[in-house]
Amino acid sequence: MEKFDVAVLGLGGMGKTHTEAAKSSPYVDKIYGYEPDQARREERAKELEIIPATLEEIMNNPAIKFVSIAASNAAHFPLAEAALKAGKKVMCEKPMGDTLEEATKFIELKNKYNGFLQVGFELHYSTIYQRAKEWIDQGLIGEVVNIQTRYFCCEFHGKNTWRSNSTGSFLIGEKLSHYLDLQRWFMGCNPATVYSVNAPNVVPYFNHHDNHNIVAKFTNGGVGVLNFMMYNAETLHKDPLVDMLTQQSDDGHFLQYMICGKKGAIETDVFRRRIRRWAFSDGEKHMESKIVETVTYKPEDDQVWIHNTAGQNVRILELIAQGKGPEVPPEDAYESMRYCFAAAASEATGKIIDMSNF
Ligand SMILES: NC(=O)c1ccc[n+]([C@@H]2O[C@H](COP(=O)([O-])OP(=O)(O)OC[C@H]3O[C@@H](n4cnc5c(N)ncnc54)[C@H](O)[C@@H]3O)[C@@H](O)[C@H]2O)c1
Repeated sequence: MEKFDVAVLGLGGMGKTHTEAAKSSPYVDKIYGYEPDQARREERAKELEIIPATLEEIMNNPAIKFVSIAASNAAHFPLAEAALKAGKKVMCEKPMGDTLEEATKFIELKNKYNGFLQVGFELHYSTIYQRAKEWIDQGLIGEVVNIQTRYFCCEFHGKNTWRSNSTGSFLIGEKLSHYLDLQRWFMGCNPATVYSVNAPNVVPYFNHHDNHNIVAKFTNGGVGVLNFMMYNAETLHKDPLVDMLTQQSDDGHFLQYMICGKKGAIETDVFRRRIRRWAFSDGEKHMESKIVETVTYKPEDDQVWIHNTAGQNVRILELIAQGKGPEVPPEDAYESMRYCFAAAASEATGKIIDMSNF
């Protein structure tokens, strides 16, 4: 089997995950790592047991076929541009740009260099959401017409970090892009109009909104709602999705979808580690609804079920080794980002955004 070298750009928390995924791939030979600051680059490369390299060294090294971008958001576009120009195949963490113009430029670049580009919408690889999509595709709940998403959590981004210092509707791209992307995946079409509002902030040191209430009317007539707030649940200074505790199942944390079709419904519930399905039927006096399927999973399977970045990256390396294209096409990721930017534009203007001219 022919192996190739890879580079990870950005060696923070997610850079560690990308490095570990590359290490576990049978297709990868050497792993290089880049951080702008030389001392940090060398320190992190040592900790992660990879080879430190400058951006120039990475881009000019023909043995490096694949670059994964795990840097903070502002660096995504310039790094993707440099890598696609250099003929590398690219996996870039979400968000795909900080603005709609930047997201558009991602697509232009990929077309110009005819490159491989996959954006890190890893929930397409997480079992709980794959299962929901399978049930929808099997027709078990009929046509999807109403998706209610509830995401409540504690504040875990911290004071004076690149996240808390970001402004405006930053969290829609940074965090909610995953969940709006899933609404499109489950509904099977795009939003036609989007509206979103914010309550006053509760987290005093966030430069951006700490809550979002997004409503979309989809082209099939269906409705998608996402309610998010990041302060109510009991405090835990780590990403609750990475380090889940049984306690969090009943302390204010919620990450749930209720996906309603015309023949049934599916609920995904991350903090209760389960997915359930309802079937609707015609009763004598009422429409009947019954829970017909419940699947649960163990704490040791949390990562694969709800947050499978590693599985996604291993699969992308396999696609590249087999000469295949991206499994989640960048044009699809772009539509999800358009949904995000429309929600942000609605929050900034107070208007309903008509997607046909956005
Ligand atoms: N898919 C997911 O579920 C998921 C989860 C967490 C983070 N992320 C994404 O991963 C990215 C990194 O997040 P994180 O939690 O690792 O943040 P982090 O702050 O831990 O790490 C970011 C790293 O990027 C480095 N960096 C900054 N500018 C750079 C540049 N120009 N070139 C190279 N490196 C640069 C920083 O020095 C830092 O080490 C973000 O875009 C975030 O949205 C995705």
